[in-house]
Amino acid sequence: MSRTAQPGIFAQGTRSHHYLELTVRPDVEVTALRQALRRLREPGVTAGGLNLVVAFGPSLYRRLHPEDVPAALRDFEAISVAGGTRGVPSVQRDLWLWLHGTGADVVLDGARLAAAALAPVAEVALEQPAHVYRDGRDMTGFIDGTENPPVEEAPEVAVVPHGPGAGGSHMVVIRWVHDLAAFDALSLDEQQQVIGRTKLASEELEDKAPTAHIARVVIEEDGEELEIYRRSTPFGTVGEQGLYFVAFSADPSRFTKMLHRMYGVGDQVFDRLTDFSRPTTGGHYFAPSLQALAHALAG
Ligand code: HEM
Repeated sequence: MSRTAQPGIFAQGTRSHHYLELTVRPDVEVTALRQALRRLREPGVTAGGLNLVVAFGPSLYRRLHPEDVPAALRDFEAISVAGGTRGVPSVQRDLWLWLHGTGADVVLDGARLAAAALAPVAEVALEQPAHVYRDGRDMTGFIDGTENPPVEEAPEVAVVPHGPGAGGSHMVVIRWVHDLAAFDALSLDEQQQVIGRTKLASEELEDKAPTAHIARVVIEEDGEELEIYRRSTPFGTVGEQGLYFVAFSADPSRFTKMLHRMYGVGDQVFDRLTDFSRPTTGGHYFAPSLQALAHALAG
C-alpha cells in the first residue's frame, strides 16, 4: 500500500508557527489516548488553512502502532562534553504538535483547541510560539535554509522509503536560546565566520574557519552529503530569543552525526555557533504517514 507523508511537513509560505510538546499522564489507557487524539481531526483544529503535523515520542508510538515503529527510532540521547559544561540535554516528551498558518490568530486558536482535545490524557510540557523572521532569517540575522533541499526533493530526504515506518519521518527537535548580546558584539567578519556564510546574501565563504557552523554540519559519506530537511523557526521576546530547531530525515543517525560534529565528539572541534546558542531541550519524534496515523488512532 502506498503511503503519504503528512503534508504539513512540506507546506510552505506560513509565517506563524506554534509548537506543543506534551507528556501523557501516567496510567492513561490506550483507548482513551486514541479517543483524545481522534478529536484533533474535528473541525476547528485544522480549519482556516492551518497545517497540523502530529508526531510521537518513541515509547508512545510503540504503544499506538508497534508494527510501524522503525528499528532506528529511539529516545534522544543527551550529549555531554567538556566535563559536562557543554552539550544537548535529553528532554524527551511523548507527543509533539506543530501548527502553522498565515497568522498568529488562527494558529493560536488551533493550538488551544488541540490542547483542549488532549487535556484528558496529556499535559502541555512546552509551548513555543514562533514566527518567520524577516526574509527567512534566524534571529542572528543570517538566512536559515539556503542549503535546505528544495520542496520537490525534500520527501526523498525526509521520508522513510520502505519497511516499518514507510511514509513517515524521523525528527529531532531542539530549542536553542541565543546570546544575541554576545553575537551582536562581534564584527560582521567574525559573525560570518561563525556561520561560514555571508550575512546579507548567504554566500558560502571561501576561507571559512574549521569551526564554522556549515563546516561542522556538512558531512560526506561515500562521496554523498548527508541531508536532512530543516523546518526550524525563530522565536523571541525582549528577554529571550532563539531558534526552535526542527528537522526531518529518513534516517535519524544523520541528526546524531551532525550534533556530534557540532560538539566536537571525536575531534574536539566545536561549532562556533555553540558559543552563542544553548540548547534547552532535545527530543526524537516520529511523524507517521497519514495511513499509519489513521491506523494508530483507530486501534
Ligand atoms: C542555534 C541553532 C542553529 C542555528 C542558528 C543554525 C543556523 C544555520 C544557518 C544560518 C545556516 C546557513 C544557511 C543554510 O544553509 O540554511 C545553517 C545551515 C545548516 N544547518 Fe544549522 N543552525 C542551527 C542548528 C543546527 C543543528 C542542530 C543542525 C543539525 C542537527 C543543523 C544543520 C544544518 C545543516 C545541515 C545546514 C546546511 C549546511 C550546508 O549544506 O551548507 N543546524 N544553519
